[in-house]
Amino acid sequence: MCFCAKVARQGGLLLAIWFSLAVSYAADNSLVRGQFAPGQIWQDTDGHPINAHGGGILFHNGTYYWYGEVKTGRTFLPDCNKSWGGTRVDVTGVSCYSSTNLYDWKNEGLVLRAEPNAPEHDLHTSKVLERPKVIYNRTTKEFVMWMHVDSQDYAAARTGVAVSTKPTGPFRYLESFRPDAGVWPENVTDEDKKPGATNSLARDFKTGQMSRDLTVFVDDDGKAYLFYASEENATMHVSLLTPDYHHTTGKYNRIFVDRSMEAPAIFKRAGKYYIIASGCTAWAPNAARMGVADSILGPWRELTNPCVGNDADKTFFSQSAFVLPIQGREDFFVFVADRWNQWDLPASRYVWLPLEFSPTGNSTLSWHDAWQLPQGSKSLRAAAGN
Ligand code: GAL
Repeated sequence: MCFCAKVARQGGLLLAIWFSLAVSYAADNSLVRGQFAPGQIWQDTDGHPINAHGGGILFHNGTYYWYGEVKTGRTFLPDCNKSWGGTRVDVTGVSCYSSTNLYDWKNEGLVLRAEPNAPEHDLHTSKVLERPKVIYNRTTKEFVMWMHVDSQDYAAARTGVAVSTKPTGPFRYLESFRPDAGVWPENVTDEDKKPGATNSLARDFKTGQMSRDLTVFVDDDGKAYLFYASEENATMHVSLLTPDYHHTTGKYNRIFVDRSMEAPAIFKRAGKYYIIASGCTAWAPNAARMGVADSILGPWRELTNPCVGNDADKTFFSQSAFVLPIQGREDFFVFVADRWNQWDLPASRYVWLPLEFSPTGNSTLSWHDAWQLPQGSKSLRAAAGN
């Protein structure tokens, strides 16, 4: 056994002991209420499988709202995506589910609908709508949804924005754009500015940067940030949003340069910012990436794959979507991920796992067939704040 493996094993043992004090686990993986069963079919309160993929979760006034891509209908592989296996379903819209205990989710319906009669519209059924995330603007009292919108071949690479006065919608679609047009990132180098066939940052300078997989994050001071896979997915950007959260400001940085990271999920713990993301292998799972920063705009430092144990190199056959801080728990975060089914996208499932922290601050993700929140976090209403 090599030194690294030994250290990892000892560290894992310590983590397991520490964490077992904090989390009580369910005994088996049967489909019963009141526990998380990663990778199993997860039914809503009407008994239908939850349909909210690539999702994001907002906590507002004592209720969690889970927004996600509706995957329904036939899965097909358009000719334009054959080289990389980019299967898809027609766009239906964004779903919303609500819950106060995180186990039982009520279907709140479609909160943003496709536009089947407008072929040029970003939300036409023939396009791509992925990774919707909703944030709440305390100043404007508006719910703002950011999403990846694209052409069927993913060449458009744009960001879409929609707004609502209620968490359950309906959301009004505003527009799509490519972020940060006409502005260089704060950490640009002279080399980055040189035009060239392979330099997409310079190529897209005037029209705005490519934006595919994304997430948005609101910091404690109310400032919000967009993280988006850019530059042909090679490099991620982090961009400050305008005070109304409708647009990027042009203040942005390149992070994880040439690391081809997708599916970003951001959280803040003990004053530091963390990202969990994936590599870039379309619907196929790969090893998760993790990074940390003292300042949200960077610089960011890459850490090792947070997953440990069997199938850690495939993120337990899932891909990050979100990291959910549990309200009323200073230090409890849930890794929310998708287990994609490439050839039957509506049959895709969810993998929710607790993030475990060692006393030194290292975080890991281990597989659990079934698990429960620690006692006490069920009194969510008392913790309602935003
Ligand atoms: C993944 C991405 C998904 C979706 C998929 C299409 O890499 O994270 O959101 O775009 O590719 O194959």
